[in-house]
Amino acid sequence: MPESLAGKVAVVTGGGSGIGAAVVHALTGAGVNCHAVGRRGPVKLDVSDQRAVQALVDSLERLDILVCAAADQVQGRRLDQITPAVWDHLLAVNLSGAFYFINAGLAKLRRARGDVILIGSVSGLWPDLSGPAYQASKAGLNALSRAAGFEEHRAGVRFSVVNPGLTDTPIMLKRPAPVPAETTAAMLRPEDVAEACLMMLALPHRAHIPELTILPTVLQSAGNTSAPNPKPPEG
Ligand SMILES: NC(=O)c1ccc[n+]([C@@H]2O[C@H](COP(=O)([O-])OP(=O)(O)OC[C@H]3O[C@@H](n4cnc5c(N)ncnc54)[C@H](OP(=O)(O)O)[C@@H]3O)[C@@H](O)[C@H]2O)c1
Repeated sequence: MPESLAGKVAVVTGGGSGIGAAVVHALTGAGVNCHAVGRRGPVKLDVSDQRAVQALVDSLERLDILVCAAADQVQGRRLDQITPAVWDHLLAVNLSGAFYFINAGLAKLRRARGDVILIGSVSGLWPDLSGPAYQASKAGLNALSRAAGFEEHRAGVRFSVVNPGLTDTPIMLKRPAPVPAETTAAMLRPEDVAEACLMMLALPHRAHIPELTILPTVLQSAGNTSAPNPKPPEG
């Protein structure tokens, strides 16, 4: 029997589009009161602004569920293209932003015996074309989730990382080259990832899935993204 989520309070970063918006839709359907965070709203906030994150979390009476799906990506993503400023930006949004929410919300999450789901990526598990800064940020989310879970499970907080493969969302528009239509058609849909999150959240509290990888069946297998190899660097 799945646990009822009705009446719980959630913060979903990146909740205005893609996977985050699908999570908000699924949670709202399950009776959860969702605060969807993004630079463009609905709750307007930059997750790399620690003070703004603290103020938002302080304004909540309770916090049962935190889903961190906010992430940025750049077009020039190869090692010989990224600058220190790009590195700092991607790590600040994709990794530090999640830490700021956990840090601000930990006492409330403990009180609620709550749940934290970090949306990582298979790019954090094996190398692909998404670039070293993005991949480092996603590997960092995996490490953050494991370390937090190691320390917090006795307090009853379930820390999980969900690592999706290729998913048809707006972040794909930031790729250096357009994605062929037949590839897009075979990708995961945001609601597939949201369904996996909902399943994890609805498990009885005694059970915990710390890590979940979800792949588009015909495009990726564990450890492998079927994309052409990048050209070797010139010179
Ligand atoms: N699509 C994929 O293939 C794929 C695969 C694996 C993992 N993921 C991960 O899934 C998560 C959701 O991405 P998506 O694919 O659904 O793409 P998306 O629609 O572009 O979602 C990214 C979200 O992050 C928000 N965001 C970006 N910078 C932010 C900032 N500084 N502060 C607050 N919010 C910020 C964006 O909203 P605003 O622009 O309004 O701020 C947007 O809603 C990301 O963590 C991504 O890395 C995606």
